[in-house]
Amino acid sequence: MKTLEISGLHKQFVDSYTDEVVTAVGDVSFAVEQGEFISVLGPSGCGKTTVLNIVAGFEKQTDGSVLVGGREISGPSPERGVVFQSFALFPWKTVLGNVVFGLRMRGVPRQEREPIARQYLDLVGLEGFERKFPHELSGGMQQRLGVARVLANEPEVMLMDEPFASVDAQTRRKLQEDLTGIFESKRPTVFFVTHDVDEAVFLSDRVVVLSSRPSQVNEIVTVPLERPRDWRSVLDDPDFRHTVTHITDLLSGDESRVVQADLDSA
Ligand SMILES: Nc1ncnc2c1ncn2[C@@H]1O[C@H](COP(=O)(O)OP(=O)(O)O)[C@@H](O)[C@H]1O
Ligand SMILES: [Mg+2]
Repeated sequence: MKTLEISGLHKQFVDSYTDEVVTAVGDVSFAVEQGEFISVLGPSGCGKTTVLNIVAGFEKQTDGSVLVGGREISGPSPERGVVFQSFALFPWKTVLGNVVFGLRMRGVPRQEREPIARQYLDLVGLEGFERKFPHELSGGMQQRLGVARVLANEPEVMLMDEPFASVDAQTRRKLQEDLTGIFESKRPTVFFVTHDVDEAVFLSDRVVVLSSRPSQVNEIVTVPLERPRDWRSVLDDPDFRHTVTHITDLLSGDESRVVQADLDSA
């Protein structure tokens, strides 16, 4: 069974100032396999965050369906854990306490919480930092704690929305490698939103390329790169360059169609 199945997804918003109807998502369909890393890529404003928010249960679609493990979703749930850009950690709880909290919420018996939390902190490379507080960690370590907290809940799918958008290029590469390493050792199902082509190709098994608004799936591109991956070898790999070029062409072809449509309607 597919872990996540999105069919004919459509979302309209009514702008609260102008009362204008905005179609954020036109018609989006794709499925995600268990243990797959999928990226949703597209130009800014094409509705990526809207798709993720619908999958997370924060927004309701106007039309179409989203199935997780074969069931229609009905609101937010730890089975679709979101790693927020701001990491959304509890500043007054220790590193260990942040992970234990989610386990408590999920009803994991008291004596099992700490060993499970430690296991996930080890997985993301935070062993030895259990008693620290979030403000004592670097941005990258906070990110890893955010990932540990979501993974400890053993979600059906982990959702991430441009988590590295606000960090410098050097740090971003490191965080991407960290995430790849965690993915390769634990194989969670990941739904990752980005507008960065290199990032999508480096991280993903497949990339869902969306067109500009009203968004549709332009193409689903399979990434032909072996795992484990690191930037050093990926950058030397001609398959990486070919895939990036192909996706960049898809995006720029889409952009010129939009410009032409604007000219035609002018
Ligand atoms: N709550 C909302 N109310 C009205 N319009 C919205 C709302 N959320 C998003 N939009 C609009 O929907 C479109 C897609 O937004 P979004 O999903 O954030 O795009 P992306 O994440 O790809 O940049 C944009 O035009 C945005 O202005
Ligand atoms: Mg967005």
